Amino acid sequence: MIVKINPQKPEKKLIQKAAQIIKRGGLVAFPTETVYGLGANALDKKAVRKIFTVKQRPLDNPLIVHIANKKDLVGLVKEIPKEVEVLAKKFWPGPLTIIFLKKEIVPDEVTAGGKTVALRIPKNKIALELIKAAGVPVAAPSANLAGKPSSTTAQDVFEDFGDRVDLILDGGKTKIGIESTVVDVTVNPPVLLRPGGVSFSELKKILKNLKLHPLILGKKTPEEVVKSPGMKYRHYSPKAQLILVKGKSKERISKIQKLINYYQKQKKKVGVMTVLENKDFYPQADLVLSVGSQKDLEKIGQNLFKALREFDRRKIEVILTEGLKEKGMGFAIMNRLEKAASKILGT
Ligand code: TXA
Ligand code: MG
Repeated sequence: MIVKINPQKPEKKLIQKAAQIIKRGGLVAFPTETVYGLGANALDKKAVRKIFTVKQRPLDNPLIVHIANKKDLVGLVKEIPKEVEVLAKKFWPGPLTIIFLKKEIVPDEVTAGGKTVALRIPKNKIALELIKAAGVPVAAPSANLAGKPSSTTAQDVFEDFGDRVDLILDGGKTKIGIESTVVDVTVNPPVLLRPGGVSFSELKKILKNLKLHPLILGKKTPEEVVKSPGMKYRHYSPKAQLILVKGKSKERISKIQKLINYYQKQKKKVGVMTVLENKDFYPQADLVLSVGSQKDLEKIGQNLFKALREFDRRKIEVILTEGLKEKGMGFAIMNRLEKAASKILGT
């Protein structure tokens, strides 16, 4: 069931209702500032298992635990490194997930049997009120079927899960649209596991020796390379085949124009995901979606998953998408596109 809730002043009654569901071991989907989450009581193994079942998520992929206050950390983690205090002060509430050594109380179901737990405080009133009212930490992966683009609206969540979720809180479109940045501070040097809402350079100011995980770097493939077999799971992928075309603007555009032709000859419905500046270059495509100006990467981040889902709704079979600058939010956007793509062309 989807219920509309006021994002500025979440109705107490609705929050109470959602909190009751969480307390009783049910599932509630709720907005965060990044994407919608599929939440359950993180300390209730059975409830956490439901998340994996409903999402069809592989059991070896751990969940992020959401808390409302920094002081809630103490009960869940073994130690809080000094630089983490600084990170938390600067970026919480916000789109930063930090990996800690977990205490016994955090079930293996949440951490996929690992010794560490991922934690964050979301910057969204509905999420925060819900966690507080539930009185427990809330485990929540992105509220989408495993492998699909994340949900940035309550309708996306309903499309993937229908009534298999006890309640979907509809707080409108999410603000950032891309998931949180994940950083592991249990290792030395600290490692960025997933680029996201907080940029690498912002983090580097505090974690001076921060490194990128090799899998993030490894995706920068030259020329025509089929997706690395080392990438364990498909991610963020629409039903349609996604082809990412990188390279200089002119070359990119002419390559995409040729590819539209090529796939249409094969009787495929071809879509192009592009930027405002280039949207008129592809009149022959079956559907052209602009995700925003290339000068406004934040805006593109907001629209990215929504656009990918829209191509599926419109029965597009091949999506050709333009590579973007990897600066700031562009780094996280390109990471998602590279993971979603079945083919990457150009450098
Ligand atoms: O913005 C977000 O982070 C959203 C909202 C709902 O908070 N959540 C989200 O969750 O994106 P999910 O499950 O889709 O992605 C969590 C990522 C996965 O890549 C997972 O492997 C990683 O965090 N992760 C979770 N626990 C971890 C751990 N203990 N060690 C390393 N990576 C972990
Ligand atoms: Mg996810």
